[in-house]
Amino acid sequence: MKLPFFRSPDGREGGTPADPTEAPRMGGQVLPGADAPLDRRDETVLPTEPAVSDAQGEVPPTVTAPAVPVGPTKIAARDISVFYGDKQALYDVSLDIPDKTVTSFIGPSGCGKSTFLRCMNRMNDTIQGARVTGQILMDGDDINARSVDPVLLRAQVGMVFQKPNPFPKTIYENVAYGPRIHGLTSSKSEMDGIVEVSLKRAGLWDEVADRLHSAGTGLSGGQQQRLVIARAIAVNPEVILMDEPCSALDPIATAKIEELIDELREQYCIVIVTHSMAQAARVSQRTAFFHLGRLVEHGDTEEIFTNPRERRTLDYITGRFG
Ligand SMILES: Nc1ncnc2c1ncn2[C@@H]1O[C@H](COP(=O)(O)OP(=O)(O)O)[C@@H](O)[C@H]1O
Ligand SMILES: [Mg+2]
Repeated sequence: MKLPFFRSPDGREGGTPADPTEAPRMGGQVLPGADAPLDRRDETVLPTEPAVSDAQGEVPPTVTAPAVPVGPTKIAARDISVFYGDKQALYDVSLDIPDKTVTSFIGPSGCGKSTFLRCMNRMNDTIQGARVTGQILMDGDDINARSVDPVLLRAQVGMVFQKPNPFPKTIYENVAYGPRIHGLTSSKSEMDGIVEVSLKRAGLWDEVADRLHSAGTGLSGGQQQRLVIARAIAVNPEVILMDEPCSALDPIATAKIEELIDELREQYCIVIVTHSMAQAARVSQRTAFFHLGRLVEHGDTEEIFTNPRERRTLDYITGRFG
């Protein structure tokens, strides 16, 4: 069952009324606690991107992401600009993001990757002083229309952050949370089924099947990140946004998440922000390069890494600036 996030045919406003007393109102979504400063956490809490990119050898990484036919456009961004107060962070970005494909956003720290990612599920709405202009169309519908309920939208467009953020609940409850608040199940056995399928799709089931009722926060970092992905999957999203999902993980956990991303690609539209060009080359079919708030160029990952049109892209992928 898909969550309808637009006005229902009988004209009622879609969605749930805002309840300021409830903490993370994001359904199966992957939101930090409401008290966490989600907007700046990747810059303030965790180390920022390396000063020099991982392609210091002046040779861009070889593209090994599976070459698969790119799906139809899932999200179309048109002339997106974002302001934080008086400061403009993004300038007139237009980009089509295909379905059943992994698209990566690369570019030096502060170039607007996270800002643009947050436009796609209206997470910038939650940042005080942030203002977005332009249009984001999902399957042709304007996600910023008044009739769209951002809570339901964020279930359809799930998000995974740099730092895994399971709820302080059991593994089972982390996954069941979204389906429960959205009323997706009518029985315990149905819920058990959703939890199992979601954990299987996230590649975590075998590791946690015998301890579903222990704390999600007791898992390793890589497992927590897969739990958070299972939580997003549990509400039947169409798009999964990932903001540097491996930056806090070791290489083995990173490899597992990358493998998972490739599997999920068959079913979802996936967008990943990464500061690792090697990662972009391993997982994504499409790459968009941002610099100073502008989308410099985008295209097939292979093209971007072997034959970029713009000098700035070449300089970045060959490690001349980071
Ligand atoms: N909540 C915020 N308030 C004010 N400025 C912000 C906020 N979030 C991001 N910025 C600024 O917007 C620009 C783009 O940031 P961001 O999207 O986080 O870049 P990236 O993800 O590429 O590192 C930066 O100059 C950053 O300092
Ligand atoms: Mg960022």
